[in-house]
Parts: sequence; C-alpha cells; structure tokens
Amino acid sequence: MKFFIDTANIDEIREAHALGILAGVTTNPSLVAKEKGVNFQDRLREITELVSGSVSAEVNGTTYEEMVSEGKELAAIAPNITVKVPMTVDGLKAVKTFSDNNIKTNVTLIFSANQALLAARAGATYVSPFLGRLDDIGQDGLELISQIAQIFAIHDIPSEIIAASIRHPIHVTEAALRGAHIATVPPSVIHGLMKHPLTDQGIEKFLADYKASQQG
Ligand code: E4P
Repeated sequence: MKFFIDTANIDEIREAHALGILAGVTTNPSLVAKEKGVNFQDRLREITELVSGSVSAEVNGTTYEEMVSEGKELAAIAPNITVKVPMTVDGLKAVKTFSDNNIKTNVTLIFSANQALLAARAGATYVSPFLGRLDDIGQDGLELISQIAQIFAIHDIPSEIIAASIRHPIHVTEAALRGAHIATVPPSVIHGLMKHPLTDQGIEKFLADYKASQQG
C-alpha cells in the first residue's frame, strides 16, 4: 500500500515529502478552504512541482458540463493532476469523458461497494471509499475496503482503491491488510504512525548508556 497525504497545506506536504514516503496528494474543497488567501490553481501548481505522483484536485461544479470544463482546466495545470469527481450520475458521465481524454480521475465520496464498481466501470483511475465517515454513522468503513478489494480482484478491475477519511493508525494498518492500494492520510495521523513509546524509551536508554560509556 502506498501513502498519499490528505492536505492542501504546502508545509505539511513538504514535510511528508522529505520523509520519502509520499506517492501522491489529495485535496478537497474543505481542505482548500483552510488555506486562507491562497489561490487554488497556484497552490496546485506548487504541489505538482514538488510531488511527482498523483495530485487530486476536486471539481466544485455539480453538472456534467461544469465538471468537464472545470476538470479540463485543472488537468491542464500539470500532467500529474488527477481530477477528483463526486460519485453522482453527472460525476460518472464526466469520468467517462475524462477517461476517453486520458485524464486521470479519483471518484470521491464512495460509501458502498456498488458505487465503487460503477465508478471503476466508468473508467475511474482511483476510487475513494470514506472509512471515517462511515464509522461515524455506525457502519464498518473497513469492511467496505474488503468488499471493494475483493470485487476488484475477482473481476480483474484495474482501478486503484484509495482508503480515505482516515482517522487513526488502525485504519492505516487495516486498510493495508484488506487490500487498499493507497491510503490518503492526514498529517496528524502520519505523525502517529511513526511514534511508539518503546522506540522513544529505547533511544533514551541507548543515549544514557552511550554517555555513561564515554565517562568511564
Ligand atoms: C479524501 O480524498 C478526502 O479528502 C478525505 O479523506 C476526507 O476526509 P474527512 O472525512 O476526514 O473529511
């Protein structure tokens, strides 16, 4: 499983990029809204110059025509832009058009296996099931990853599964075990993945022993 980062903040992207783990970036209108005073297109350009992998940029239009026109503008920013499209009837039609034009797509707001299958058949490069938001309403987000991974494997479907709406490290481990190709992880959770109290204790002990050995 590869790692994407789920943020539009350039400093957070730079930090994760420096770790050498970053295969891509996902943004959405809510993440972009947090970046006060930043021009969305300029920010996307900046991100695509830093990260060579897929950078998802979401359309805001709701009709097929709006999505196609907006998506084409976004795709023209850089070759590694992936157009993020919501899972709607018009969204699926737009995905088909993008796919016919060799523009990569990420179908977002997926909450069922059937939605993922439809998105894949329309030509989606990526499908994004939202784990955390399903968990929030008492449904099993991780079970959805298992179902989609199984269906894609049985039917030899090439679309990649991005485990999205990740809330904690267990989501990451389980998404990897259940066959997600990618997890798009918020910066706070990336930090959580690296930390373990026994690692910190071990470093302290090694340091103390090293210092003691230098004194004798
Ligand atoms: C993914 O592409 C979405 O931007 C994101 O994971 C949504 O997460 P949230 O449910 O925490 O807003």
